[in-house]
Amino acid sequence: MSVSDKRICVVGLGYIGLPTASLLATKGFEVHGVDVSQYVVDTINDGNIHIVEPDLDILVKSAVNSGKLRADTKPIEADVFIIAVPTPFIDGEENKKPNLDYIKDATNAIAPYLNKGNLVILESTSPVGTTDEVVARILQDRGLVVGEDIYIAHCPERVLPGRILVELVENDRVVGGVDETSTEVAVSFYEGIVRGEVLATSSKVAEMVKLIENSFRDVNIAFANELSMICDEENINPWEVIKLANRHPRVNILQPGPGVGGHCIAVDPWFIVDRAPELANLIRTARRVNDAKPEWVFRRVKKCAEKLRDPVIACLGLAFKADVDDLRESPALDIVRRLREENIGQILVCEPNIEKSEEFELSNLDTIIERSDIVLVLVDHKPFRKITAASLKEKIVIDTRGVIT
Ligand SMILES: NC(=O)c1ccc[n+]([C@@H]2O[C@H](COP(=O)([O-])OP(=O)(O)OC[C@H]3O[C@@H](n4cnc5c(N)ncnc54)[C@H](O)[C@@H]3O)[C@@H](O)[C@H]2O)c1
Repeated sequence: MSVSDKRICVVGLGYIGLPTASLLATKGFEVHGVDVSQYVVDTINDGNIHIVEPDLDILVKSAVNSGKLRADTKPIEADVFIIAVPTPFIDGEENKKPNLDYIKDATNAIAPYLNKGNLVILESTSPVGTTDEVVARILQDRGLVVGEDIYIAHCPERVLPGRILVELVENDRVVGGVDETSTEVAVSFYEGIVRGEVLATSSKVAEMVKLIENSFRDVNIAFANELSMICDEENINPWEVIKLANRHPRVNILQPGPGVGGHCIAVDPWFIVDRAPELANLIRTARRVNDAKPEWVFRRVKKCAEKLRDPVIACLGLAFKADVDDLRESPALDIVRRLREENIGQILVCEPNIEKSEEFELSNLDTIIERSDIVLVLVDHKPFRKITAASLKEKIVIDTRGVIT
């Protein structure tokens, strides 16, 4: 079967699903995108995008205009089904638990459209065992024989927002089937679409690989964050300390920040803790250190503000990381909300990647800096990296990202 005869159904058209669907469409596949949001479906069918990602607008427009990409709220029959729906957590007292409802809903939604020979790929980041114990089980309960009628595999996404279109193609991919045939079929599919190496394994290993990649980052960022608070007590600059320590040939400390946000690093380690609560102590502690950092930043701002009459605080950035519009689990957003709720002065906000916010009045960077007594840098967005310490001489500067030099 040639590429142009192959139909792919991508379920979930967000930061992962939409770039994947449009990329596959521009490679010649016939792509049917599915999303539960009618707004998302309509936006895409109009050739537009509902998320910010460099060059995605051009890719989606060209995919839709060529007739190779269509979106709908319902799946259709296809050769390959890719599930890229959210996998958030449910807040618990002690630990947080994965919410697999989106994966279950997506699997149930595609089940009636599956035919012999189809490949089902779970790309959503998932707790170990999900591909086998949730996706395969639901489909088996519908009478499909895995490894004979259909093939099921997990292929986690490890793209970096802001570089998604490049990394979707260039990154190495770990592909694990629920059985050997599924692995073979899925590996051959990815080999046809990516330039990176496709590494074959089992679905459980593939799930764990993704989770530990993000836990590795989380634990190391927690170390940097803890260090930054200790340095603050000692009145020394953590970025200078880290820069000098990293001159050691075998030391590579990451950068501290206001906390850890986003859909991945702040979430995925909990999937490991949930399965191994007695063993995952370091991973759990790192999560707690990183989750506590926004409160520490808030208290620091409050302490400075208390010294001033009617303080005006310029908050630079709301997104969870540099140069994206993504506010999910954003520590910057938590801090700004908290400052406003607690009435810690007049809060001015600049978020250059968002045009309009329902929650905050967004202003121009120069205006808020000029009007402020305190400049609080929360995200290292490109325009903020150009600000010099000399230009803020009259202000109190709280730089959680170490960008003002
Ligand atoms: N965003 C990233 O950078 C990134 C990186 C690596 C892995 N991931 C993982 O990829 C998965 C998807 O993340 P995302 O960032 O694309 O999420 P997202 O929230 O941007 O998009 C998910 C989309 O799925 C839709 N959806 C929800 N339930 C659905 C259903 N039952 N059927 C059809 N559509 C449904 C939503 O309306 C939404 O448009 C998650 O598991 C995430 O952890 C994300």
